[in-house]
Amino acid sequence: MTILDGKKVSNDIKNEIAAEVDKMKAAGEKVPHLAAIIVGNDGASLTYVGSKVRACERVGFESTLVKMPETTSELELLKKIKELNEDDNIDGFIVQLPLPPQIDTQKVLLTVDPSKDVDGFHPENFGKMALDMSTFIPATPFGILELLQRYDVDTKGKHTVVIGRSHIVGRPMSILMSRKGWPGNSTVTLTHSNTKNIAQITTQADIIISALGVPNFLKAEMVKDDVVIIDVGITRVEDANHPKGYVITGDVDFENVSKKASYITPVPGGVGPMTIAMLLKNTLLAREQRKV
Ligand code: GUN
Repeated sequence: MTILDGKKVSNDIKNEIAAEVDKMKAAGEKVPHLAAIIVGNDGASLTYVGSKVRACERVGFESTLVKMPETTSELELLKKIKELNEDDNIDGFIVQLPLPPQIDTQKVLLTVDPSKDVDGFHPENFGKMALDMSTFIPATPFGILELLQRYDVDTKGKHTVVIGRSHIVGRPMSILMSRKGWPGNSTVTLTHSNTKNIAQITTQADIIISALGVPNFLKAEMVKDDVVIIDVGITRVEDANHPKGYVITGDVDFENVSKKASYITPVPGGVGPMTIAMLLKNTLLAREQRKV
């Protein structure tokens, strides 16, 4: 069994990006600048955005964090997005999801300039991805592809089962794993909350990508021997013994499933760090594209 070490690979990627930034600086060029908008005080979202900003510092990017109150109106947020669209100093930006209920997420995503949409959530970019055109691939799916590639995991002709149909992970992942190319070329089954008898499907999978958000959902008896496991789950589970009062728990019963798997991502230290590294990669791409 091989651990797909997202922490290590993401560090390698950050070092590669930092080297690119050094070259840009040496050439007297502007370095990439990522902005992040966060609305409200959700603890997990604040943690993620904080990690994204710290990662920018680590590779030499400029970063801007825009914090808006929980009561922000849709109009106020759209105004801020338009400001960032027009700000020549900003190469790419993200609006951290989820948003408070008074704000229509689809309207927000449609307002982001596609050339600055480093999350790859705008319908123009999502459509390009589905059509195999060059674009920003959403960071989590992009990170999973990169992990499979760097560990030389064979995906051609394999049966990939994706659990969860979110716009951020499950849906794009199902499209990417069925694309011609590598990683890809696999036969994909997209399962979700209305799927009947899911164990009957997961036991046929060569590769399982779980983005459900239910701690320890995937048990050993639900997988076959030598399965490749990608665990996207990051749920905070209360734990009085931990200094933070919680532990981050994946969708997969790691202790038992890992005994059957050929490759498996840990939680934490698997997909999570890859997401951040690929957001940086998209931002670098956005900067390079704005020069031409
Ligand atoms: N919320 C959970 N994942 C993501 C992500 O990748 N990007 C944004 N903007 N919000 C998220």
